[in-house]
Amino acid sequence: MSTVAVYSLKGGVGKSTVAVNLAYRAATASTRRTLLWDIDAQGAAGFLLNQDKAGRDAHKIFSRDADARHLTVSTGYARLSLLAADNSLRQLDVQLIEAEARKRLRKVLRALQDDYDRIILDCPPGLTETSEQIFRAVELIVVPIPPSPLAIGAYHDVAAHLARRQRHEGPEILPVLSMVDMRRKLHREALEAHPDWHWIPQASVVERMAVERAPLATFAPRCAATQAFAGLWTDIEQRLQAIEARSS
Ligand SMILES: Nc1ncnc2c1ncn2[C@@H]1O[C@H](COP(=O)(O)OP(=O)(O)OP(=O)(O)O)[C@@H](O)[C@H]1O
Ligand SMILES: [Mg+2]
Repeated sequence: MSTVAVYSLKGGVGKSTVAVNLAYRAATASTRRTLLWDIDAQGAAGFLLNQDKAGRDAHKIFSRDADARHLTVSTGYARLSLLAADNSLRQLDVQLIEAEARKRLRKVLRALQDDYDRIILDCPPGLTETSEQIFRAVELIVVPIPPSPLAIGAYHDVAAHLARRQRHEGPEILPVLSMVDMRRKLHREALEAHPDWHWIPQASVVERMAVERAPLATFAPRCAATQAFAGLWTDIEQRLQAIEARSS
């Protein structure tokens, strides 16, 4: 089992959108038993998969004696399950700190490792106790970055933070330019400056995910953004296989 966090310091950069489309791709194209774990209290990932808000139990995933396997739900898509979020996760940082549970997230992932091949985390923004636990527990961190100098700067801050805190081999970090509009000079310049980065085009069809409440590939299989998510997942899958081969 390998885990991918879709994370950014900043809000509104496309994390939930990327997480849902990658998880769908893992379950369908790669036929991996996949869990999308929504750790953000807003519950956007569950919303985009047409799941109604679960209630107030999501924080229990992190309590000492909970069994996360019993809290997952199937999504209606083959091999794709969801661990849903709700408002009770707003206090997650306090919950983890008060319980002195510095390794809790890692323990939850361990409890799920026999049931899933790929776990995708839709993370809340910010640099918090939750994000520190995520950094310690995952194999790969995907960082969606709007193509602006400020956002690219914030990415480099996170990459430097990760490099500083890693005494042992830490997670790989994979930047992805999100919401790229080729009509805009600044966006084209960001692409030219980072030719080896993946990028997702800005398109109104991507925003429609919130109306269709479904992964993009299910209602727009041939659009450029669907192809971009597919290419991104193929790269991630190859990286995970290489990491798994190194650690076995
Ligand atoms: N490639 C894209 N093209 C057009 N719109 C996009 C694209 N990616 C994301 N969006 C839109 O941008 C908005 C923010 O996306 P999303 O919710 O995925 O970001 P987020 O980083 O998860 O936000 P938050 O920090 O609030 O959790 C949404 O309305 C989404 O539909
Ligand atoms: Mg989100």
